[in-house]
Amino acid sequence: MTFFEAAGGEETFTRLVRRFYQGVAADPVLRPMYPEEDLGPAEERFRLFLIQYWGGPRTYNEQRGHPRLRMRHFPFRIGALERDHWLAHMRAAVDEIALPPALEQPLWEYMVHAAHSMVNVPEET
Ligand code: HEM
Repeated sequence: MTFFEAAGGEETFTRLVRRFYQGVAADPVLRPMYPEEDLGPAEERFRLFLIQYWGGPRTYNEQRGHPRLRMRHFPFRIGALERDHWLAHMRAAVDEIALPPALEQPLWEYMVHAAHSMVNVPEET
């Protein structure tokens, strides 16, 4: 069984990303970084990416090609502040889906690692 299936499939990832984007929509640091008026399309891209990453359908690649996420984030200035805001909303979203610890732990560790790897400006001192 894939992580995707064990975690409850598409419904779980839809809830996770929904909650995450509710946080982004109200965030004064992150909201201005999203070019589109409607956050819906960005939410859908992130949802499809996570579903694919964790072993679900590969719709993301069909629609967007190879993720190359670090490259796709270069247009945005992501420092420690942006990363920490991002992770705060992700923490709330992970809490919301209330997975068993054996699933929640790898999911959260992945998010922390991925968020750190997306930082593309030097550490503010
Ligand atoms: C896209 C911000 C971290 C996955 C975007 C976009 C912004 C953004 C502004 C463009 C919205 C769009 O039109 O899709 C940030 C910030 C981060 C961060 C501030 C802080 C660290 C991450 C992480 C992941 C991720 C850790 C993966 C775990 C994605 C994906 C897209 C995206 C899949 C859509 C890529 C595409 O297909 O074009 N992000 N992001 N982001 N982000 Fe992030």
